[in-house]
Amino acid sequence: MQYRTIAVEASRSYNIHIGAGLLSSIGDMIRPAVGCCRLAVLTDSNVESLYGNSIMDNLRSAGYEACKFVIPAGEASKCAENLLAFLNFLAAERLTRSDAVVAFGGGVVGDLGGLSASLYLRGVKYIQVPTTLLAAVDSSVGGKTAIDIPAGKNLVGSFYQPSMVCCDTALMDTLPAEIYRDGCAEVIKYGVILDAALYRLLHDVPFERESVVARCVEIKRDVVQQDEFDNGIRGLLNFGHTFGHAIEKLSDFGVSHGAAVAKGMVIAAKVAPLCGLCDIVEELSSLLVRYGFDISCPYSASEIYNALLSDKKRRGGTISVVLPRAIGDCTLVDLPVEELETLLEKVI
Ligand SMILES: NC(=O)c1ccc[n+]([C@@H]2O[C@H](COP(=O)([O-])OP(=O)(O)OC[C@H]3O[C@@H](n4cnc5c(N)ncnc54)[C@H](O)[C@@H]3O)[C@@H](O)[C@H]2O)c1
Repeated sequence: MQYRTIAVEASRSYNIHIGAGLLSSIGDMIRPAVGCCRLAVLTDSNVESLYGNSIMDNLRSAGYEACKFVIPAGEASKCAENLLAFLNFLAAERLTRSDAVVAFGGGVVGDLGGLSASLYLRGVKYIQVPTTLLAAVDSSVGGKTAIDIPAGKNLVGSFYQPSMVCCDTALMDTLPAEIYRDGCAEVIKYGVILDAALYRLLHDVPFERESVVARCVEIKRDVVQQDEFDNGIRGLLNFGHTFGHAIEKLSDFGVSHGAAVAKGMVIAAKVAPLCGLCDIVEELSSLLVRYGFDISCPYSASEIYNALLSDKKRRGGTISVVLPRAIGDCTLVDLPVEELETLLEKVI
């Protein structure tokens, strides 16, 4: 079987395998990373009904003893109750420190599975098997894990690198169009922040999935290797996210993450020329529209501003925003919060 391997050198080094059809040899693929052990597969109800039997059959025929825990599909499952329920399941199944968790699903499963693995017995190995485009290019790479709590999204988490990522790009064939498009927003983001050549490739709609996923993973890998714990350059990955998070929050998460990031990238692009940086608004907007995004902002400047005041990226009187200097070249700018309010009034 043809697949690409991208090596990550972080606090734990691991390989990311990317190719169509990898699920059919998942058991053999994970052996170098976890050896002979028992596996606890975490998945969600949608992925379970599509691929639950395939993964379990394959793991068992590769000689693994495997158990499975299924959470309801959706962001609401990334919660403390499910974290505790899964930890209890691991204990009831008597998983030991030499066993491993397999997070088989989108970003929700990946984040919950990773956090559980970092906590159970003070840390067991885990494998990411992403099944959404977003999880493949973003959440399965880099070791950020989290759950949501009532006070906010992703407020409880850890940095905990997987032992391997196995990305079967064929699994994305069954994604609903809107969920696939959400991932496309992240892919476009990578082009804008760090890779003009990738950005140009994305003008072929739909893009060639395997090579584009691999390029995005390489970009994220390069960023994470320089700044694993998110104290500097990793902030570039937040292009469009600061404003996007505000829109998600204002919509009470009715606007999906990718749709909000698309709107957020356009706001950031509009702010850039007002800060003396380049103007990519037309170029970026037309590409996002080709991917089917509605790039209008449904909220006023003051609503966005007020939502931003509680953003994680706010430090004292400034807030860190990623702005484009050109397609393929972005920079982090610390803007005083009052200045941001004035800028938003000019662009929204
Ligand atoms: N850890 C990180 O670095 C990081 C980065 C970005 C996003 N995230 C997190 O990722 C989450 C979003 O991830 P997501 O967009 O993958 O959401 P998700 O996990 O909720 O998946 C989206 C939907 O697609 C379904 N699905 C998954 N795979 C499928 C398949 N192959 N076929 C059909 N349906 C399938 C799921 O059941 C779900 O209904 C958020 O919680 C976000 O905070 C984490």
